[in-house]
Amino acid sequence: MTLTGSPLDVSPVIPVVVLNDPTRAVLLARALWAGGIGIIEVTLRTPGALACVAAIARHVPEIALGVGSVLTSQHIEQSLAAGADFLVSPGANPSLLESLITTPVPVLPGVATVSEVLSALDHGLTELKFFPAGPAGGPSYLAAIGGPVPQVRFCPTGGVTAANLREYLELANVAAVGGTWLTPASLVDAEDWLAITELAVAAVETAACAQP
Ligand code: 3PG
Repeated sequence: MTLTGSPLDVSPVIPVVVLNDPTRAVLLARALWAGGIGIIEVTLRTPGALACVAAIARHVPEIALGVGSVLTSQHIEQSLAAGADFLVSPGANPSLLESLITTPVPVLPGVATVSEVLSALDHGLTELKFFPAGPAGGPSYLAAIGGPVPQVRFCPTGGVTAANLREYLELANVAAVGGTWLTPASLVDAEDWLAITELAVAAVETAACAQP
């Protein structure tokens, strides 16, 4: 789909997936969609990741399709060519920030410190991934950043689970959370799409209970 707004407004939970097989990618995207999650982030961590992105773009066009683990301008070009609707990076140096802001799609560069947040703001970016959320300080760290820099909306990922997602979503500066807990490798390997749909439904229900 072509995103008309921010990826952070599509769903309060963003599944981060590691996939290598395009057929599985399509079935997984459909399972998430069936569970009420209209967004997916496919990470560039396998040889088949870009083929998975292209397959989802073609066969599940209704889902907002992100590409994650974007590290270089080559990754940006490859992701856009494969059909990415938005781009996510785990961190960002000045040259990656420059490349990201010239793309025609929304971007979520990763940050873990206030100085990195300020660099992103310098590039006009106010929606950021906070990674790795748990090790970098968790909800209390994000709450503290919200004091001096309230204009940034974050998507924490890295250590987010069904058990703690509500704590993040209740923060005023968290718009959505992301993570791999929705698509465990064991379920993907077993092709248990129904179980993944059930995890999606449960996550959406938990998120709906969070009061920002
Ligand atoms: C990411 O790229 O966002 C993270 O690897 C997801 O981290 P998690 O596996 O702890 O959810």
